[in-house]
Amino acid sequence: MDSSEFRDFLSNRVSVREYYPGELSESQVEYILGCASTAPSAGNLEAWDVVIVFDDEEKTEISAAAFEQRHVEEASALFIVCANYVRSMSRYGERGILYAVQDATIACTYMMLGAHALGLHSCWVGAMDEGEVRSIAGLPSHLRPVAILCVGKGRLPGAFTPRMAAGEHVHYGTWEGVG
Ligand SMILES: Cc1cc2nc3c(=O)[nH]c(=O)nc-3n(C[C@H](O)[C@H](O)[C@H](O)COP(=O)(O)O)c2cc1C
Repeated sequence: MDSSEFRDFLSNRVSVREYYPGELSESQVEYILGCASTAPSAGNLEAWDVVIVFDDEEKTEISAAAFEQRHVEEASALFIVCANYVRSMSRYGERGILYAVQDATIACTYMMLGAHALGLHSCWVGAMDEGEVRSIAGLPSHLRPVAILCVGKGRLPGAFTPRMAAGEHVHYGTWEGVG
């Protein structure tokens, strides 16, 4: 893949919120997890964990905890990606809280791109009642659910959403810039 194909690969991923019924295969799940394992992490501690949900009843409960977002219920699988505070804080103390969230976020990004590489579709869901998700998924207190990645085969194409021009994010040298 050359650099322009890579840009196309990234640009062609869009969030999809309607899925066909059906399951992910074991090899698809393994591929997605394998992609996450290649993600960088602070001190290579990989301070993330994931709870994968296939069960319809549990998906419905998680959907309710995500403020009734229907695509959460409809997806073939939910990857509840969690920051593992203990793993990171044992080396980095307070700073480990931030590192664990970053580790989980990168891992989730790699999962999302892995699903895309398989021709699957996904939607990153951040809006959730964390306490409810924690309780449904049985998470211990040192895990924070950072994102729910809904994955499935899209029933409808997602829409491309416009972006700010990259330059609008950028400041050279300092916030005020070097003139
Ligand atoms: C941190 C974060 C939280 C998000 N939360 C939600 C969410 O709760 N529900 C949802 O449908 N989409 C959610 N999204 C998806 C965004 O709406 C979507 O990525 C954005 O509009 C850009 O569209 P695209 O993914 O199609 O490029 C979230 C994305 C991120 C990165």
